[in-house]
Amino acid sequence: MKVETTAVAPQEFDGEAIVVGAWSDGALSRSTAAIDQASGGVISRLIELKEISTTRCDVTPLLAPVGVRAPLVVVVGLGSQDDQQPGLEQQAAGAAAKYLASRARKSVGFYLDLESAEPAIAGAMVGCVGQDLFRAERKLFPFDSISWNNVDPASVQQGTALGDSINTARRLVNLPASEIYPESFADECVRLGNEFGFEVEVWDEFRLAEEKCGAHLAVGQGSSRPPRTVIMRYLKGEAGSAPLGLVGKGVTFDSGGLSLKPSESMLDMKCDMSGAAAVVGAMMAISRLELPVNVVGFVGLAENMVSGDSYKLGDVLTARNGKTIEVHNTDAEGRLVLADTLDVAVTSGVDRIVDLATLTGACMIALGQGVAGLMSNDQSLCDQVKRAADRVGEPAWQLPMFAEYQEHIKSQVADIKNVGDGRWGGAITAAKFLEEFVGDTPWVHIDIAGPSFLAKPKPWIDAGGSGCFVHTLVELVRNR
Ligand code: BES
Ligand code: MN
Ligand code: ZN
Repeated sequence: MKVETTAVAPQEFDGEAIVVGAWSDGALSRSTAAIDQASGGVISRLIELKEISTTRCDVTPLLAPVGVRAPLVVVVGLGSQDDQQPGLEQQAAGAAAKYLASRARKSVGFYLDLESAEPAIAGAMVGCVGQDLFRAERKLFPFDSISWNNVDPASVQQGTALGDSINTARRLVNLPASEIYPESFADECVRLGNEFGFEVEVWDEFRLAEEKCGAHLAVGQGSSRPPRTVIMRYLKGEAGSAPLGLVGKGVTFDSGGLSLKPSESMLDMKCDMSGAAAVVGAMMAISRLELPVNVVGFVGLAENMVSGDSYKLGDVLTARNGKTIEVHNTDAEGRLVLADTLDVAVTSGVDRIVDLATLTGACMIALGQGVAGLMSNDQSLCDQVKRAADRVGEPAWQLPMFAEYQEHIKSQVADIKNVGDGRWGGAITAAKFLEEFVGDTPWVHIDIAGPSFLAKPKPWIDAGGSGCFVHTLVELVRNR
């Protein structure tokens, strides 16, 4: 998809469709007013009659309004201008793009007159790309070219970088586990690193054994697809200043292992590498944006399968940091992979860690499907992450990390066990487990089990992989 700027007036735009916005309060924006004027006041009249909805993300198509060159004008509702909620640009542009992508269109003009163009451009790119990678009859058709009015070329660059990165994360999640397994995921990282300019190091199963990653290896040992760890370095910040570590759970398929999941719960488990996908997406965006920062991404990749070689209940594993773990449930595998991957990050010399993981169903019980859980050992870093998420409109909420939860992961035979007593507070006992592997490093854990994979489409994005938290990580790194 070609993304460009246009200085042509909206009524003169020579493409198949243009998009304008409509606030629920206040005056028409510049471009919307221009169309209104050219068409003899049809827009303001239709808004008055409530034929055009100004509700955020509602889309109303107008066919062949007089005085307008494009045969289709799409009016997208922007909600209240006085009380703008975060994520507006991305979602409104996404909703209009998703509507227009329902059939193949060559050239579309966006005349939204919004304050920040970058998230709008990214949102439109996300909105017109779907999960129907394998359907003869597609549901969404990305445009050949998309033109933005009243936007500077730098914003086009930035918005495209962000939109491509989010879509890359979504694609990795949406591809089935037959295509995306630890080795092929690592290959994708290498390819993206070469293309966008970050350095990639891959640890295979032999290196993982040398590195004593006993917890990670145990999860992977039941699969014919061996595990991997990928380290991605982008060091364009101040020389010698310690990098931020981004750590992702990359379970490319989670059958549950011997603690096998029932069929319905297993169906979407190709999504269990969404944390890793978010880290890769963020590395891609950060390097394309050439941000002046030091960031290192670490993804722990494994396939949790059933076989004669599977790790078993009652096994005692020794993690890379020397702690012993009694396995009570092979379906609590993400924390085992992360235990070693977090330790790799800590010992590499990063000074802060943010990890992302589709870690627990319990987090969805606590917060619902749309909201990520934040758990941390450092309130100021947690506040930074929360503020970044708030600014870009990705819902996240902090859960407590009281010391008493620690009691729930004590084991009779090893230092800790991999599940809590009973199922209460399951998101937090999982985070307490992870805390055992970060030492004193300031750390925030983001449980994205809910928002990473959408069961149903939203007006601005197709169902399936959401690419969530790529935007938040970019915002965090920018530290605005
Ligand atoms: N990958 C799952 C968590 C998950 C569930 C992600 C639903 C996305 C949607 C994780 O590995 C898991 O199975 N967690 C168990 C932990 C339990 C065995 C302590 C869970 O949440 O049930
Ligand atoms: Mn599991
Ligand atoms: Zn899992």
